[in-house]
Amino acid sequence: MSDSTFEPVIIGFTCNWCSYRAADLAGTSRIKYPPNVRLIRVMCSGRVDPTFVLKALSDGADAVLIAGCHPGECHYLEQNYKALRRHRLLQKTLAQFGIEPARVRLTWASAAEGAKFAEEITRMVDEVKQLGPLNWPLNLPIKPVPLATAPAEIPVLSEVAA
Ligand code: FES
Repeated sequence: MSDSTFEPVIIGFTCNWCSYRAADLAGTSRIKYPPNVRLIRVMCSGRVDPTFVLKALSDGADAVLIAGCHPGECHYLEQNYKALRRHRLLQKTLAQFGIEPARVRLTWASAAEGAKFAEEITRMVDEVKQLGPLNWPLNLPIKPVPLATAPAEIPVLSEVAA
């Protein structure tokens, strides 16, 4: 779906040591990129719990970007490898809900890669515009049960059998 007026909201989790500084460098270098990304600084890409991504999507974001240090350069040793594994798992899980993998992107950017970071955001915004609004959970064939109310609403087996 493509709507020329659609402006996606993208939540960007950026590592404090590299990608957040890349975004900062893009800003101070006056490199333009679309203002669709709301950056959230975390200490490391490995800090991004998958539930952060699910919460962002279910609260109205159209896509999520996770950005960290290049492999081998994580300030917490190998936590960006953990982010990589979580990202793969998230994409597979979200596909089960009918959510396109392109809506959750993982990228690496060092503190010196402001231009690369800006390009990555521009590319992602274009791709998400092509996908259209996520509007989760309304647009999905499977309606997730809100976690807070799930236990009380799930019937007990003995009640079902009676
Ligand atoms: Fe940047 Fe771990 S400190 S990804």
